[in-house]
Amino acid sequence: MCGIIGYTGNGNAEKIMLDALELLEYRGYDSAGIALLHQGRTQIIKRAGRVKDLRKLCETVKPVGCCGIGHTRWATHGGVCDENAHPHRFGPVTLIHNGIIENYRELMEKYHLEGRLASETDSEVAAAVVEHFYTGDPYSAIRRTVLKLKGTFAFAIMFDDQPDKIFAVRNVSPIVAALTQDGAILASDVAAVAPFTTDYFVLPEFHVVCLEKEKVSLFDLSGDHAQIDWLKVDWDVSRSGKCGYPFYMEKEIMEQPQVIRETIAPRIRDGRPDFSAEQIPDSLFTDCKRICVIACGTAMHAGLVGKSLIQAMIGIHVDVVMASEFMYNDPVVDKDTLVIAISQSGETIDTLEALKFARKCGSPSICVVNVMGASIARAGEYVIYTHAGPEIAVASTKAYTTQLAVLYLITARMAMARGLWSGEELSDFMAELERVPQVIRRVLDTKEEIHRLSGAVLNARDVFMIGRGLDYSILLEGSLKLKEVSYIHSEAYASGELKHGTIALITEDTPVIAVVTQEKLKSKELSNIREVQSRGARVLLLIKENETLDAGEQWSCVYRLPQMKDPFMVMPASVALQMIAYFVSLDKGLDVDKPRNLAKVVTVE
Ligand code: G6P
Repeated sequence: MCGIIGYTGNGNAEKIMLDALELLEYRGYDSAGIALLHQGRTQIIKRAGRVKDLRKLCETVKPVGCCGIGHTRWATHGGVCDENAHPHRFGPVTLIHNGIIENYRELMEKYHLEGRLASETDSEVAAAVVEHFYTGDPYSAIRRTVLKLKGTFAFAIMFDDQPDKIFAVRNVSPIVAALTQDGAILASDVAAVAPFTTDYFVLPEFHVVCLEKEKVSLFDLSGDHAQIDWLKVDWDVSRSGKCGYPFYMEKEIMEQPQVIRETIAPRIRDGRPDFSAEQIPDSLFTDCKRICVIACGTAMHAGLVGKSLIQAMIGIHVDVVMASEFMYNDPVVDKDTLVIAISQSGETIDTLEALKFARKCGSPSICVVNVMGASIARAGEYVIYTHAGPEIAVASTKAYTTQLAVLYLITARMAMARGLWSGEELSDFMAELERVPQVIRRVLDTKEEIHRLSGAVLNARDVFMIGRGLDYSILLEGSLKLKEVSYIHSEAYASGELKHGTIALITEDTPVIAVVTQEKLKSKELSNIREVQSRGARVLLLIKENETLDAGEQWSCVYRLPQMKDPFMVMPASVALQMIAYFVSLDKGLDVDKPRNLAKVVTVE
């Protein structure tokens, strides 16, 4: 939630910040703003709307300065309007914020701020508190402010009388910083830093970083110098753009064969799953009595597939818990529970907090994360990185399938460590996993056919998706994708549950998407499909290519999925459903990559 950028140097700060804000816009796009500090004067340009609107405004205003901070907002406190856009200014202090200051009302009272603020935001309150403590020493003002705050924050701050300097501090919400060829930069995530350098570091919590033109300095809250732990950007920057696709979502869907290959290849040695690079001992897989997956959104749906795989193949109990509900259900996790936290961004606050709680309870943990050095990766005991590369579209696609790929590897390693499979069974499973990229490629090659079939739901108000077992898990994700990017109300239902209420909503011409990929469930699933057909529903069926369908039945819309062994059918089916959602959004003329009200990284509870 909210993207932050800061730059000081000899480059064109305005351009650097606007370009970076475009890269960070997936974190929130309610409003955008920049502030430039020049000769003791700070100029703020901000407005509700997208970064492109801010860019237009900047063309008129023509701000001056080579030290600046910029922000793209996902509104929490205060509506979407120019006044609530960041940066906020109070006296000589200019500040941008990502996070939530929970005690902002108390602070308003304590520092007599009622009637003195220009916005309704908690962030401006923080700016006012910094100003209250500022007597020429930024470190002291920041330290004293931070000690008064409750909540999460990443702040970048400029002071009128501190030329060319940007200060930043954080708790939970992320900030990375780096030196570039001609200056220093900080941002909410590495995507904005990667065009300038491959070396960066994650600002440790409750530390202050000071950016100057030629150096970055790190201090702890007592003012002592702290050591910087440098990291390397692990993705190819040339792959960060849209590469000719109209939307990132399409590009990211098309990248799946490659990124799945890149995720599994380094973890297969002599045809066996191998986590030695991650230093994960087999005892982690053999000693646990149960598994608890914690995740949100799409990552949680990946966890549901993992549950089906592990329960079926390993025979141990797996719970998948929405991280946002974890703390409210009196979680029972202990040293016998292996916790698997899944997160593309590695910054989702609910997942992070749940993971920290589980670790306090003594649970061993593995994090499956896409962004190197992210908070969740650092909070877990072991981390397996998906190599999906930067995922920019808000709707997750390649992150999901690479998370699935890691869950297949975990399942195989667990079976191997527990001695559950013969050598042949293991090789068959791994060979099938290695076939996934080419099978997905076949689905991608039918782009035109899927585009045509997506017409079946294009004008629908409601869509139902039905299936059982693994097919149901696939559909939960397929339905989320459709909702997110097309705004069509869509519900995934376990098809056996339909008769307990939902079938009442099926009327003449209601579009129903059915997925049938599991041999053992096929006959029951087909019966459920007939039940909705006889109530007039129009069914789009996704089924394996070699299945025969009863010629006497009405199948107006069938998509044939390339054949894999049943546990792997999730992959081609999920990609087909991603493409349906994408084409519906495209044909409706929507902003596919930035659906309304959403943000890619959810760093507020
Ligand atoms: C947001 C994103 C989703 C994502 C979810 C969890 O809702 O829009 O695409 O699945 O957060 O994010 P994470 O980064 O933890 O996977």
